[in-house]
Amino acid sequence: QDTRPPWPYPRWIAHRGAGKLAPENTLAAFRTGASHGYRMFECDVKLSLDGVPFLLHDDTLVRTTSAREQLGAGLGAVGGDHPWSTLAQLDAGSWHSRAFAGEPLASFENIARFCLANGYFLNIEIKPTPGLEHQTGAAVADHAARLWAHATVPPLLSSFAPPALAAARHAQPQLPRALLLDALWSGWLETALSLDCVAIVCDQVLWDTSTVAQARSAGLRTLSYTVNDPSQAQRLIDLGTDGLITDRVDLFAPARQP
Ligand code: G3P
Ligand code: MG
Repeated sequence: QDTRPPWPYPRWIAHRGAGKLAPENTLAAFRTGASHGYRMFECDVKLSLDGVPFLLHDDTLVRTTSAREQLGAGLGAVGGDHPWSTLAQLDAGSWHSRAFAGEPLASFENIARFCLANGYFLNIEIKPTPGLEHQTGAAVADHAARLWAHATVPPLLSSFAPPALAAARHAQPQLPRALLLDALWSGWLETALSLDCVAIVCDQVLWDTSTVAQARSAGLRTLSYTVNDPSQAQRLIDLGTDGLITDRVDLFAPARQP
């Protein structure tokens, strides 16, 4: 019997907005994911030099923007080394395909407004520039609390960095948190519980009957990344897990999935 409180989020979550169908972590990606029926999205958020939260997966701008062309190869490529006024000028779409040329980096505020206006749910992965775990966790939580102040369902904050989750909890304890795991390191469950997490989000291969039972009996929800194969999805659903983060928004139509 499941004694955990109701889980308000959809099972299917579009990774970085729309997986690989659109430039990751941009508003265009969110629109693409939404056009495939997704109502929940995962995105990676870090801080600009002047403290503006924005979406970027990597530490550097090299892979997913034209920073080298626009700023010059000699300038710092680390996302968090630039003020938002500079970052907002970058082309974050051309690297993906010509169809998305000129797509800007997304500010967290714009993504929040898009989700709130449409009644979409958000999983905010706090992805700090190394060394800024505490600052990023606190700032993202503060901005999220302000933006979602009148919403019924808050965003789910997640991070691989326990210090970022601790800072988020200190800043806005009411926002739900999830510990991200790429391995079942010693003390994972105790760490999640000590941070008052509501969920574990882990590499899908780590879930089995035993780990699901451990999380569940500790009162935690169980989510997975990145589920791109129907047989993987079926295994996770059969295990009774709660959320699947996928790149394959073109393959899994949430309305037709269990
Ligand atoms: O939040 C789940 C997943 O996004 C974690 O891995 O590297 O894609 O951010 P990554
Ligand atoms: Mg992520």
